[in-house]
Amino acid sequence: MNAQNIYDDPDFQAGYVTLDRQVRGLDGASEWPVLRSLLPDLEGRRVVDLGCGFGWFSRWADEHHAASVLGLDLSTKMLDRARTDTASATVEYRRSDLDVLDLDPGSAEVVFSSLTLHYVQHLDRLLETIALSLTPGGSLVFSVEHPILSAPSIQGFETSATGDRFWKLDNYLVEGERVRTWFVDGVVKQHRTVATYVNSVVGSGLTIERLVEWGPTAVDVEVRPELADDLHRPWFLLLAALKPGNQHR
Ligand SMILES: C[S@@+](CC[C@H](N)C(=O)[O-])C[C@H]1O[C@@H](n2cnc3c(N)ncnc32)[C@H](O)[C@@H]1O
Repeated sequence: MNAQNIYDDPDFQAGYVTLDRQVRGLDGASEWPVLRSLLPDLEGRRVVDLGCGFGWFSRWADEHHAASVLGLDLSTKMLDRARTDTASATVEYRRSDLDVLDLDPGSAEVVFSSLTLHYVQHLDRLLETIALSLTPGGSLVFSVEHPILSAPSIQGFETSATGDRFWKLDNYLVEGERVRTWFVDGVVKQHRTVATYVNSVVGSGLTIERLVEWGPTAVDVEVRPELADDLHRPWFLLLAALKPGNQHR
């Protein structure tokens, strides 16, 4: 496996487990209500969770009566905890590098991925694998760091001479590796433009249903004024796509 496996790094893990979304699960993920709204009914469906992490979504899919759930991740630490936290025999976890993943054709009705595809180097290959694995009418729903967030050489806000706050966007059109400090130095992510995500999904033969540029709303900022900066740029890109064919919904 050539992919970086930073989630197995003990110092990285020590920081990662303190995130609200890893303490409280899906309820601690601010974008979850919108991401959830993009999902089809899971009842009786075969679900694949790409980059399943601690298995929060895999368990949710099981609770929502998926016929089977396959959670895939590169990190043994993430998978170990996912297995410990999951009692149901409907959910299977498997170690897998998404850059070389093969899935059986027609083996899933729903493929889901939360905040993982921006680690993958060969997105087109993966999307072709996903498209092939879906049955006609099947759904792909994923979230990634929004490209405006992932682009800059140095991430952060600045204050102009007139007191305006702005996000320092540079290198948006320069796709490829970004090496960040996030709990530890040297965390490698892949920056892609919005157009690349859209065109890669379209190129795989799937039909895009919805695209969401997720960030806090003005109402969220009224409740939590510390989010005011976040009205300047989205946090996450959420996308729902369908495999053409009979509708499952
Ligand atoms: C930000 S976490 C998201 C975990 C989970 N989906 C969630 O939302 O809580 C990203 C996950 O992707 C996994 N990952 C990163 N690169 C991967 C790769 N090439 N193949 C499989 N999993 C990968 C990491 O190990 C980690 O568990």
